[in-house]
Amino acid sequence: MARAEVTDLAAAKEIIRHLDAKIKTLTRGENLRQREALGFERKLRDSAVDLEFALDLERRRSAELEQSYYDMVLRLTRASVYKDNETGAHIQRVSYYARIIARHIGWSEADQKLIFRAAPMHDVGKIAIPDLLIRKRGSLDVKDRKVMESHTLRGAQILEGSNSRLLEMARDIAVTHHEHWDGTGYPRSLRCNQIPIAGRIVMLGDNYDALRSHRSYKKSFPHEKACRIILEGDARTRPEHFDPQLLAVFRTVHPEFKEIFERFEHENPAIG
Ligand SMILES: [Fe+2]
Ligand SMILES: [Fe+2]
Repeated sequence: MARAEVTDLAAAKEIIRHLDAKIKTLTRGENLRQREALGFERKLRDSAVDLEFALDLERRRSAELEQSYYDMVLRLTRASVYKDNETGAHIQRVSYYARIIARHIGWSEADQKLIFRAAPMHDVGKIAIPDLLIRKRGSLDVKDRKVMESHTLRGAQILEGSNSRLLEMARDIAVTHHEHWDGTGYPRSLRCNQIPIAGRIVMLGDNYDALRSHRSYKKSFPHEKACRIILEGDARTRPEHFDPQLLAVFRTVHPEFKEIFERFEHENPAIG
């Protein structure tokens, strides 16, 4: 329970005690009107306290439920790390990048926490992709690429159907983290604001981290080169792929990305 709520509740109880004492001091017929008014006010205060208790119980229940969802998310994330070539460190770093951007575009503390917790699920759909394909070195043919790209839709299928805000955001991220602002991404070629903001944020962090990391088809790039590719483009990546508002934020916050990458480069922190 928040401190303010505790104080409100204690204050309401104190008022009730005070009113009860006052009612007792009034004798019948001496001041009937005042006694009735105080009795009515006391009933109102009583109802307010009951309501406050009920709300508090509800808040605690939904916090517990949200924590259970998060526990489940962590386990699914661990499972996807076993399956994928990605490391736990990559997953963790993407969470940090997403939170940095969310903070700089003015998200509330609660929403920053939400994206930090939802971002690790972006590739959970790879659980449904055959191992042979995930571990295949070199470029994929068109058919294999289609199967690989379906990890976005598979991720959505795994996460959808819940009214938990965490799972809803995780689902949005899973299905849209390969969409591009200019409509050249997959799986649905969404463009601009059709792509949920959480997906656009994670897409930027995921791309930065992929550029910094060693992959079967590329070497790792230093921070400056990764920034140049994101901001100016290369053969694969175009600045038009990114939400321009987020790109403007990246232009100023990229040193924080560098710091996160270096902090977790060799560590493989336990997820969660
Ligand atoms: Fe992905
Ligand atoms: Fe990733």
